[in-house]
Amino acid sequence: MKAILLEKAGGAENFQIKEVEKPQIKENEVLVATKALSINPADFKVRMEEEGLKMFFGTERPAILGWDLSGEVVEIGSQVNNFQVGDKVFGMVNFPGQGKAYAEFVAAPENHLAKMPENTSFEDAAATTLAALTALQILESKIKKGDRILIHAGSGGVGHFAIQIAKHLGAHVITTSSAKNKEFLMSLGADEHIDYRNQSFEEVLTDIDFVFDVLGGEVLMNSTKVIKEGGAMVSIAAPPHEIEAAQKLAKKDVTVSPYLVQSSDKDMNTLKGMLESGVLKPHVSKIFPFAEMAKAHIEQESGRTVGKIIIKL
Ligand SMILES: NC(=O)c1ccc[n+]([C@@H]2O[C@H](COP(=O)([O-])OP(=O)(O)OC[C@H]3O[C@@H](n4cnc5c(N)ncnc54)[C@H](OP(=O)(O)O)[C@@H]3O)[C@@H](O)[C@H]2O)c1
Repeated sequence: MKAILLEKAGGAENFQIKEVEKPQIKENEVLVATKALSINPADFKVRMEEEGLKMFFGTERPAILGWDLSGEVVEIGSQVNNFQVGDKVFGMVNFPGQGKAYAEFVAAPENHLAKMPENTSFEDAAATTLAALTALQILESKIKKGDRILIHAGSGGVGHFAIQIAKHLGAHVITTSSAKNKEFLMSLGADEHIDYRNQSFEEVLTDIDFVFDVLGGEVLMNSTKVIKEGGAMVSIAAPPHEIEAAQKLAKKDVTVSPYLVQSSDKDMNTLKGMLESGVLKPHVSKIFPFAEMAKAHIEQESGRTVGKIIIKL
C-alpha cells in the first residue's frame, strides 16, 4: 500500500510517499481502506519538531502521521463486535498516540470508530473527527442551557464545530474571528461576533459563564477579565505555565483548565447522530489529493483555515 512517511522532523518537504506493507490488525481492530483524511494543527506540530515526533512515535522511524479518517472496513479482528466488512466508518484513531492514518489502509481499534451516517460524504465524515470530538468532549461537560459563552477563533476547525454544538446545547454564543469570516460564523448560529482585529473582546464583554480558548497567550490572559465569578475556561492550546498564570488572574471560584482530546466510539456515535439530524454541518474549505499532503500541511500552518482541510484518496 502507499503511505506517507516521515524519516525526520522538519518541513513538509520531508514527507515521502512510498510503498509499505499493509498493517496487521490486532483482535480488537478493523482494517480500514482509507477514503478521506482530515488535517489538524496537531499534524504539523508533531511533524515540525523532533521533540513532538518523539512524544508520539518514540524512536520509531519512519513515522506515519495522521489520526482522522473515513473509509471502508475490509477486514475485522477476531474480537470485533460492532463492525463488518463493507461498513463505512469514521473516527479519530489512537489519539493521543500513533494513528498512522496517512496510508491507504489503517489498523483502527473498533472503539475509536463509528459507522458513517447515510447522509454524509467521506470528506464530511473525515472532517467530523478530532476537531469535532474536542468541541463535544469539552462543551458537553462544561456548559448548560442559557450560559453566555465565548468561543475564540470560531472559524477554525474546532471553533466552527464548537459554535454548532454550543447552540444545540442552548447557549448564547459569542465568537471571534476576523471580519471576513463573520458571515460564516453567523450562519452557523452564533449570536454575536467580535472582529478581533478591530475590537478588544475584553473591553466589550462581561459576565461570561464559559470561555473556550483555542489560542493561549494574551487571549487566554485577557479572557480571565470577562468570566464571571463561578465561571470557567478551558484551553486546548495553552501550556501548563500559561494555565497557572491565567488561574492566578481569574476571579473568585473561576476554574481555568487544559484539555486534551481522547479517541472514543461513544463520542463518535454522538457526532454521527448530530450529522444525521442536521445539528452539525462540517465545513470543508479545501480538498487535496493524497500526493499533495505537503501542500495541505503548509495550508493548515497558515493559521487562516476556515473549517477543515481534507485529503481525498
Ligand atoms: N488539546 C486538544 O485536544 C486540541 C484539539 C484540537 C485542537 N487543538 C489546538 O487548538 C488550536 C486550534 O485548532 P483549530 O484546528 O481550530 O485551528 P485552525 O483551524 O487552524 O484555526 C484557524 C482559524 O483561527 C482563526 N484565528 C486565528 N487567530 C485568531 C485570533 N487571534 N482570534 C480569533 N480567531 C483567530 C482564523 O480566523 P481568521 O483568519 O479570521 O483570523 C482561522 O479561521 C491549535 O493550536 C490546535 O493544535 C488542541
